[in-house]
Formats: sequence, C-alpha cells, structure tokens
Amino acid sequence: MEQLNVQKLIATAKALVAEDKGLLAMDESTGTCNQRFAAIGIPQTEDYRRAWRELIVSTKGLGNNISGAILFDETIRQQTKDGTPMLKVLTAAKIIPGVKLDMGAKPLAGHPGEKVTEGLDGLRERIAEYAGLGLRFAKWRAVFNIDDGLPGHTCIAVNASALARYAALCQEAGLVPIIEPEVLMDGNHTLQRCAAVTEEVLRTVFAELNLQGILLEGMLLKPNMILPGKDSLQQTSVEEVADATVKCLLRVVPAAVPGVVFLSGGQSSALASARLNAMNVRFKSQLPWALTFSYSRAIQQTALELWHGEDSNIAVAQQALLHRAQCNTEARRGSYTSDMENT
Ligand code: 13P
Repeated sequence: MEQLNVQKLIATAKALVAEDKGLLAMDESTGTCNQRFAAIGIPQTEDYRRAWRELIVSTKGLGNNISGAILFDETIRQQTKDGTPMLKVLTAAKIIPGVKLDMGAKPLAGHPGEKVTEGLDGLRERIAEYAGLGLRFAKWRAVFNIDDGLPGHTCIAVNASALARYAALCQEAGLVPIIEPEVLMDGNHTLQRCAAVTEEVLRTVFAELNLQGILLEGMLLKPNMILPGKDSLQQTSVEEVADATVKCLLRVVPAAVPGVVFLSGGQSSALASARLNAMNVRFKSQLPWALTFSYSRAIQQTALELWHGEDSNIAVAQQALLHRAQCNTEARRGSYTSDMENT
C-alpha cells in the first residue's frame, strides 16, 4: 500500500474515534427506512426520507458528540430544502461523512436460515466515485443468526471473506473500512452462546483480514455486544454484559485496531448507553482500543417518533437526537448515569 494511503487511513480512523465522540449510523437503505416510517405512520416517500435526514444533519451541536455519519447512497445525492448538499452540511459541522457499501444480506444458497452479504461486483468503481465525492470511510454489514446449529462454518467463512475483500478495496482507495459482523439478538439463546458465536465469528474475520493484508491501524470494528437473545428467559445485568463483551473482544481484537464502535442491534436507547458506560467504567484504562458507539436505532428512534413527519416537531426531535448523542459521549467517558434520561 502506498505510504500516502497508509497515513491517510490511520489519520481518518483516529479522527473517527477521537475526543470521546462516536458515530451515527444513518445509512438505512430505502427499504429499512420505509419500514421504520411505516411502523409509526410516516409516509414512505423520497421527500420524507430527505426531510428526516435533513433534520438529523442540521441538528446544531451534533458535531460535538458525533465524529462521523454513515450515509446511504440516496442521502449523499440529496440537498437540504435550501439547496445545500447534505455532505456540505455535515462537513461544515465537522462530521466526517461515510457510506454504506454493502448491498444487503441475501439468502445463502444451500444454507437455509443463513445469509451472505452481497455487493462486491463493481465495488472498486463505486468506491472511486464515493472517494471523489468526499466520503472518507465506509461500512459493510454481515449478519449471523443464532439457532440450532447456526451459524454454520460456511456462513461465517464466506461473510468473513467478503468483509476482507471489501476492506481491501476501501483501503486501496484511502477509505477507512468499518467491519460490521453482527450476531443478531433474535432468539432465546443465552449470553454464553452469544459469546461463543461472536468469538468464533470475530476470530474468523480477523484471520481473513490478516490473510488479505488489511491495515489494522486503518480500520474500525463494529461488533454486537455480548447479550442473551431477546426472547431468553435468562436476562443479565448491565455489568455482566460489559464483562462478557470486553472479555470476548480482548481475546480476538488485535491491539493495533484503533477503535471498536458498537452497533445497538435493537437494544433500548438507555440500555445501549448504560452497557457502553459500564464497559468504560470497568475496563477503559486497561484497553488497547477506544470503545465507543456507532448506533442507529439507539440514537434515532426517539427523535423519529417525536418528529412523526411534521415540520412543527423538528426542534423537539433535534433536541432528543442531540440528547442521545450526549448520553453516548458520556457513556464513552464512563460518566453516563440513568439520571441523564430525565434531563
Ligand atoms: P443499530 O444501531 O440500529 O443496530 O444499527 C447499526 C447499524 O449500522 C446497522 O448496520
């Protein structure tokens, strides 16, 4: 890799996890964004998606807590009502823009119940266009379902290989890859099962990253926390989740990686903050990498419900969005308290 790219990748990765900030994932595909809108009765049109994304990027002060925003292709090409490109609004707020590059998880042939993430065809050309538009990092998400005998080795292997191929193409063009292998919360499995599966997934992913020569200093890992399945009868304390998650990461994530940026995966906003906080309270001084957030639902959901598609609700929705970003900055510092939920 050219020396220039190495320096650029390291600088961007460091900037994304600097100053107690975290990332905002606002890269829901059109289908996912429409589902979120439909669930609360917001019309599912391009203009409503544009208005929602404008509300987010124009929230005053967001850049104090958010280092980078992951965007969907549609948003990258949209403008605010007054004609300013969304990308310009973000960079003026000192938020680094990134892009979702995968084309979604599709059924894995021959493996019922499992998925493989697609999007490698033509990826070099797509990345070149995004780099030209000023995007500086990217995201690719693979999903793993826990069930009887699942995920299987094939599903883990093919997804890990695709994650590494995507990461190599990103780094070749100077974009920092965010590697997102998500073990889903669906099901009634225990925390221990989630830990075992996540450890196997992450081991396989890092073996592939190594095989394909990925610069560890110029990437970020976006994993799930170690949690019991959402239908499990054995729910666990915030501290147990923090301990199990950090234990797993210490076993498999090389110290050269600058940061781990969690997904929220369907946890409530308050739990996503409390669990990240507990990890930082208990372990921060002993960890080689930053532990921070790259949440979508856990930052956006309350604000989306408050907005409800109405201009008259923009200010109150922006306040709620900023508040969640602030709670998560405090969680990264290890100084979040549940009292913050009432402010
Ligand atoms: P959630 O925080 O809602 O899990 O979304 C994170 C993400 O980027 C999913 O790809």
